[in-house]
Amino acid sequence: MPKNILITGGAGYIGSHTVLQLLLCGFKATIIDNLDNSSEIAVTRVKELAGQFGSNLIFYKIDLRNKPALEKIFASTNFDAVIHFAGLKAVGESVRKPLLYYNNNIIGTINLIEVMGAHGCKKLVFSSSATVYGWPKEVPCTEDFPIAATNPYGRTKLFIEEICCDVYRADSEWKIILLRYFNPIGAHPSGHIGEDPNGIPNNLMPFVQQVAVGRRPALTVFGKDYKTKDGTGVRDYIHVVDLSDGHIAALRKLFDSNIGCEVYNLGTGKGTSVLEMVAAFEKASGKKIPLVMAERRPGDTETVYASTKKAELELNWKAKYGIDEMCRDQWNWANKNPYGYGGPDSAI
Ligand code: NAD
Ligand code: UFG
Repeated sequence: MPKNILITGGAGYIGSHTVLQLLLCGFKATIIDNLDNSSEIAVTRVKELAGQFGSNLIFYKIDLRNKPALEKIFASTNFDAVIHFAGLKAVGESVRKPLLYYNNNIIGTINLIEVMGAHGCKKLVFSSSATVYGWPKEVPCTEDFPIAATNPYGRTKLFIEEICCDVYRADSEWKIILLRYFNPIGAHPSGHIGEDPNGIPNNLMPFVQQVAVGRRPALTVFGKDYKTKDGTGVRDYIHVVDLSDGHIAALRKLFDSNIGCEVYNLGTGKGTSVLEMVAAFEKASGKKIPLVMAERRPGDTETVYASTKKAELELNWKAKYGIDEMCRDQWNWANKNPYGYGGPDSAI
């Protein structure tokens, strides 16, 4: 019998790619998403890309904070595990609207865990973030580093990690994996699904992509005086398909071992500067990306990259793609869908 997985936030950027990989691996998948930051077109495209497996996908437009609706789904289907992506993720917005973030991310998660527990579904993979390392005292970041948050978004990740550990401490039937993502970029090699942020992109590569297709005049580079190879910030970029495969590895760990509540980094272990990323994207796309050098962005860190040892050893998972493939696939998605899932009229 194929395992049946519930994916919250499965219409979103990382969720849609992970759902596709799940279907291709023979899992059954049910997405719940309120489409707050995503489009149902992504779900339709995932179904198409999954070919014969597409019929194993079900979609419900539901908000996680709607507990009766969640109850109804769990009452009608037995899920073997849940991958929980759903959440708001814009750092700046979280500073302006902290209660929105606490309400959406934390209450949504508590509802989910309560309903899961009530229906005896006690296997969970949660999307955490490298943001919990703050400005790390050294790199690479290992999972046992102290964690801290510098904004409400990061605090929701930190709190949810702690909530999950408490849930396991209180009931050892739970098996929970907390995945700390570094910087997911790129898109499915088909170019049919990818990242489509609302409004002005906060993150580097969605912004670069919009410059390349002519939607924005130039990239503002935040900070040129960091103590890095070229003065710009260094991050651990990871191909979204590699990241998706990391979730399959985590699920297998939940099904095949006696894990309790464990945390794993999902990164490549390699640091790349802003200027190096821009150069790689220019090479992949043949487009010139005009730059405006500016001050550091408040709250930014200098250099963050992952130690990948624990995930390699215990999840038997390792990223396969490098930045050239990430940029190739980012450009393929951008070139085929310059306005994401919407037409030009839906762009801001
Ligand atoms: P995304 O915004 O594309 O996907 C999140 C999805 O959750 C969206 O489709 C949104 O509509 C949905 N959602 C939000 N609140 C909901 C609610 N209350 N009920 C139902 N659906 C809801 O973001 P993403 O980049 O795919 O990120 C997925 C997860 O990974 C998030 O939890 C995010 O914080 C985390 N993460 C992302 C990154 C990154 O750089 N993309 C890095 C680290 C961690
Ligand atoms: N950058 C620019 N110009 C831009 C956007 C970004 O120069 O327009 C620079 C940043 O200063 C940084 C690098 O590009 O040096 C990467 O920035 P991102 O915003 O893409 O990524 P961050 O690492 O700063 O943050 C992201 C998410 C966080 C998450 C963190 C770790 O936005 O939510 O990765 O997962 F917590």
